[in-house]
Amino acid sequence: MPESFFILSKDYLELAIDEVTTIVKMYDRFAKIKIISNLVIVQSKTNANKISDRLTFVKTSGQILRKMSGLFLDQENFQVLKNTKTFVCRVINLSSNQFNTSELENSMGDMISKFTNAKVKLENPDITVYLIFTNEENFFGFSEKIKERKRPKKIKKYPHELDWKLTRVMINLTGLKKGQTLCDPFCGTGTTLLESESMGINAIGIDFDQKMCEISKENLKINGYKSKILKSDFQELVKISEKFDGIVTDLPYGRSSKISEKPEDILKRLISIIPKHKKIAIMFKKELDPKMKLKGLKKYQIYRHKSLTRTILIK
Ligand SMILES: C[S@@+](CC[C@H](N)C(=O)[O-])C[C@H]1O[C@@H](n2cnc3c(N)ncnc32)[C@H](O)[C@@H]1O
Repeated sequence: MPESFFILSKDYLELAIDEVTTIVKMYDRFAKIKIISNLVIVQSKTNANKISDRLTFVKTSGQILRKMSGLFLDQENFQVLKNTKTFVCRVINLSSNQFNTSELENSMGDMISKFTNAKVKLENPDITVYLIFTNEENFFGFSEKIKERKRPKKIKKYPHELDWKLTRVMINLTGLKKGQTLCDPFCGTGTTLLESESMGINAIGIDFDQKMCEISKENLKINGYKSKILKSDFQELVKISEKFDGIVTDLPYGRSSKISEKPEDILKRLISIIPKHKKIAIMFKKELDPKMKLKGLKKYQIYRHKSLTRTILIK
């Protein structure tokens, strides 16, 4: 079974690990996953690029060639470099040992150049060969040149908008698949809808503020996206519940956006109407937290700045 590796950013490590796990299992429920700090090793039939393409907090990913117990330049590894014109070696040291990584990269590069026709190219090579060191085991891996992911454009912004990374990770933590549909009942500028459509997930947005509906529509239109926008109170989601598979949303904070009632009342009302058997990812400010009795949900705390820590609930 092929093995892939994913080096995660440490910014929101818990979210990042759960995101990889959810997406890997979404594609292949029999996949095996091993986590060594911010390195995730996946044994699965799913291609590493396909997994990586959905993810938010991955810095580097590729295929594992083998554990670093034998020589790199054996017959099997030669195959990877056989038709390669350019390559670069990169050392990723996640172990507690200190060593001179550039020296190691250089000598590995010299060795590969001697035994193959490939030439070292530091920027944008055909293949990057990785030497990954951890306290447990070490690996050889490689990745091929991949096209940079096209990001959705956002022409209209607003102070209350959520950043795309937290939005995308929330969608991914629900495990919604391509072709399914999500609903954001507080869609604001449409961040959730844009991220969702960029991953092939359909979306429906609801906002009670006409201005926000217009902004969302413009942001969708420039990308050629087709999410529906309903100008309505979020209660509308009950009526349209047959049309979506999950709810992903960031609740109003009562600061820069219009709000129909106190944030705590909105959260209570929302929780009471969420249709059963839907996937959910809801973000709100941490202060609302203790008053709610919520079972079967995974909770994350996201520190944003001194006066704002957010809670994310996932089901
Ligand atoms: C925090 S903002 C959402 C931001 C959004 N995630 C974005 O990136 O632009 C909350 C939104 O909830 C809307 N809102 C407030 N009360 C509402 C209600 N009762 N029903 C529907 N929308 C409401 C506000 O107009 C605002 O656009």
